[in-house]
Amino acid sequence: MSDIYIKPTGSFQGEITVPGDKSISHRAIMFSALAQGTSHLKGLLLGEDVLSTIECFRQLGVSIEIGKSQVMVHGVGLQGLKAPAKPLYCGNSGTTFRLLMGLLAGQAFTTYLTGDESLNQRPMGRVIEPLSQMGAQIEEMRASPKERVIKIIGKPLRGIDYTMPIASAQVKSALLLAGLWAQGEIKIRGGGSSRDHTEVMLQGKGVSLKKDPQQNLLIFSQKPSSLPAQDLEIPGDISSAAFFLVGGLLGTQSKVMIKNVGINPTRTGILEALEAMGAFIHQKDLRQVGGEKVADLEVKSQSLKATLIEGDLIPRLVDEIPILSVAAAQAEGLSEVRDAAELRVKESDRIASTEEELGKLQVFVQSKEDGWKIKGPQAFKGGQVQSHGDHRLAMTLAIAGNFASAPVKIQNIDPVATSYPQFWEHFKSLGGQYQK
Ligand code: S3P
Repeated sequence: MSDIYIKPTGSFQGEITVPGDKSISHRAIMFSALAQGTSHLKGLLLGEDVLSTIECFRQLGVSIEIGKSQVMVHGVGLQGLKAPAKPLYCGNSGTTFRLLMGLLAGQAFTTYLTGDESLNQRPMGRVIEPLSQMGAQIEEMRASPKERVIKIIGKPLRGIDYTMPIASAQVKSALLLAGLWAQGEIKIRGGGSSRDHTEVMLQGKGVSLKKDPQQNLLIFSQKPSSLPAQDLEIPGDISSAAFFLVGGLLGTQSKVMIKNVGINPTRTGILEALEAMGAFIHQKDLRQVGGEKVADLEVKSQSLKATLIEGDLIPRLVDEIPILSVAAAQAEGLSEVRDAAELRVKESDRIASTEEELGKLQVFVQSKEDGWKIKGPQAFKGGQVQSHGDHRLAMTLAIAGNFASAPVKIQNIDPVATSYPQFWEHFKSLGGQYQK
């Protein structure tokens, strides 16, 4: 496990292009694998999580070539996956695990899925339960709290009318994927504001989905007999951009341009929250990439005020709440996050870990069951913190560290490679200083 020492410079300046969107990259591999023929994917994120998805599909008999400028996926068609010779290892990636459960439930073979210590402790019942209602046979085998294997015995599946207790894109996507092999209609209620990349990609492949926003309902009834291969360009990840967006708003001398950021409306909660805090985010050169909206985003140092983040906004910025704690600490007044109990079951318990680690930098976070309160402005002091094995917490602490009054040591920064392998390179190119 490697550590890093941040020597605060108090500003970020310059231009970066963030790597490909993680959610879209997973789905691009999955749908290309299921398509008929070869797809060329440009801008795919090659972080550890997506590499886990790639490796799982190789085990399922799909040939995937990682080239210098693109990834080539030789699709095997909807009936072409093969039984893997060993359990599929999903690493730290919840998206790989949950979406694969849906995709594998209706196959004509049995699969075993497992992950790292953190993933093996994350809840899977949310996917197992609706899939079981569709006729799936899924068994959880647990040797210890940190060791779990989930056995999926492929079965014929039926349709479902399911109301999701939480607005989760992973659950919704698992059901849509299972639906590709199910007899009958898939009706999903309550997915509303959660990210819709699966729907966008299916529709991009000519599959028709019905949406009833009034009833918060999604219907998948016309099942395709095959999916066409397609070349795709993946936009940059707004969840990765969020770190330098916040960093570019802090201090007095910051000015950051982030190019090629995906601004799908189900992902732009972070922009709305920062704007509610008084930030001006300049969106330039709005365009479409791979069926998704994209823009270049520019920010500079600005004074921020407190905000309340709750309700439907939560699924639209759920992964950005750790870095929003840094913005809240620098903003004038009492900021609050509500309705975000989901944070407790992410890569770490992000409510507890944020409170604990920002506390070590003398920033007081009052945790609640479903969020936190932070009264700003509070200055970050120097100190020693740790990532709790959580990539987004590690990067949050690095941004806080750049604005601290003394050096900050972060223990275990390895997980950063799951979603943003170029993070430290970008940190440095924007004027941050560190020693490994
Ligand atoms: C994701 C959905 C979200 C998000 C995760 C990626 C996806 O999870 O937190 O990082 O790609 O579908 P939930 O569906 O559990 O909210």
